Amino acid sequence: MVKICCIGAGYVGGPTMAVMALKCPEIEVAVVDISEPRINAWNSDRLPIYEPGLEDVVKQCRGKNLFFSTDVEKHVFESDIVFVSVNTPTKTQGLGAGKAADLTYWESAARMIADVSKSSKIVVEKSTVPVRTAEAIEKILTHNSKGIEFQILSNPEFLAEGTAVKDLYNPDRVLIGGRDTAAGQKAIKALRDVYAHWVPVEQIICTNLWSAELSKLAANAFLAQRISSVNAMSALCEATGADVTQVAHAVGTDTRIGPKFLNASVGFGGSCFQKDILNLIYICECNGLPEAANYWKQVIKVNDYQKIRFANRVVSSMFNTVSGKKIAILGFAFKKDTGDTRETPAIDVCNRLVADKAKLSIYDPQVLEEQIRRDLSMARFDWDHPVPLQQIKAEGISEQVNVVSDAYEATKDAHGLCVLTEWDEFKSLDFKKIFDNMQKPAFVFDGRNVVDAVKLREIGFIVYSIGKPLDSWLKDMPAVA
Ligand code: NAI
Repeated sequence: MVKICCIGAGYVGGPTMAVMALKCPEIEVAVVDISEPRINAWNSDRLPIYEPGLEDVVKQCRGKNLFFSTDVEKHVFESDIVFVSVNTPTKTQGLGAGKAADLTYWESAARMIADVSKSSKIVVEKSTVPVRTAEAIEKILTHNSKGIEFQILSNPEFLAEGTAVKDLYNPDRVLIGGRDTAAGQKAIKALRDVYAHWVPVEQIICTNLWSAELSKLAANAFLAQRISSVNAMSALCEATGADVTQVAHAVGTDTRIGPKFLNASVGFGGSCFQKDILNLIYICECNGLPEAANYWKQVIKVNDYQKIRFANRVVSSMFNTVSGKKIAILGFAFKKDTGDTRETPAIDVCNRLVADKAKLSIYDPQVLEEQIRRDLSMARFDWDHPVPLQQIKAEGISEQVNVVSDAYEATKDAHGLCVLTEWDEFKSLDFKKIFDNMQKPAFVFDGRNVVDAVKLREIGFIVYSIGKPLDSWLKDMPAVA
């Protein structure tokens, strides 16, 4: 019987291993983490992350062939295949600060694997890592291994938060990179056999290690680039009277381009896109390729521009001041169907409005108040000028920010409301009731194009929808980005 262990019980390790356990009932899967609260939550009725369908999968296998534990060393010792799915954030200080991946957690996991192992193992990179990380990991493992054989594989994860379970059931592809030696190929086959329990073998792509590592960074860079492209177009649409949804549809029906990932928005967020592009930029720079690095930098710059452009639009539309005005923020997570707020555009938009002395009333169906307060009082790191920005005072945040438990409370007596996450429930709100309870003129700033702008205008709102033709009110008050 094959035993699998996954180090890191986060957004990737938890769902990926739960689905693996469900699809491979004869394999024992242990998910381990140094964080006791996280493991306790995985063992409880309230899982540490929100993902549609996840609770059901976990309940089906937990205690049978799926275990969550803090006893990292024991499970690593017992396993044949060890996945490493620890966090790989952007370095915030030292060499490469602002761009390079911080591999501290990865290195410490690798050293621990070398320390506790008494039998040969396949070590799988699940975390997103810089290209050629496997070489460094191999060195750590073999220099400390006491003669045990380790095979390193790269098996990057392509799931998207919010649809993780669906993506894991039906991945577009599974990518496995390994050494081109007999032992390397044998290890690839062992991992392919695990996935072949539910993924058609023609969808399991096997490559060399460096191609697999780089493909993950490339995939995220391409996805983010599409969002920045359509967002750059959205600014031009507003200036010219074109409608970004119509433009995206016309462009996306070209089969060479395709329709997905062409929704204009307040900007992309999440723990991966920015971090992985910064990592790519750093690798280009280290390899003496500044033009390639600058190309990818622009994707993040457009994203920063889009967030600031949105916040400036809010301020300029409301007579150039939001000082003392209540503004409702609907949605704080970086996308719908997740409670994850890492790099959410809501942080930049809210910080900008707080700096302009607005009073924010924030509602998100999944994000807890402590998380929102923590996010808004944390120093923001400027990737292009890696000096920590001035910390916004926590007292300012507690005075100016209120977190509430429904959209009607958030919007009561507000001058404006901003939709920052595309939660389905925002589409079916009673906007007549909301309008009646707001200050007039009542503004809606839709950063996700989810509300029915025509209907809202009929009710009496002044509506800004990203990338759409502007109301005459907004035209008269141009936003300065
Ligand atoms: P996360 O921060 O949710 O989880 C990482 C976990 O690793 C944490 O619970 C942490 O306590 C644990 N950990 C760190 N060092 C450890 C150690 N030495 N021993 C045991 N546990 C340790 O991170 P997330 O979002 O799951 O991401 C993990 C990796 O997967 C990252 O490299 C990320 O770039 C990549 N990825 C993330 C995706 C996402 O949608 N979140 C999608 C695809 C890849």
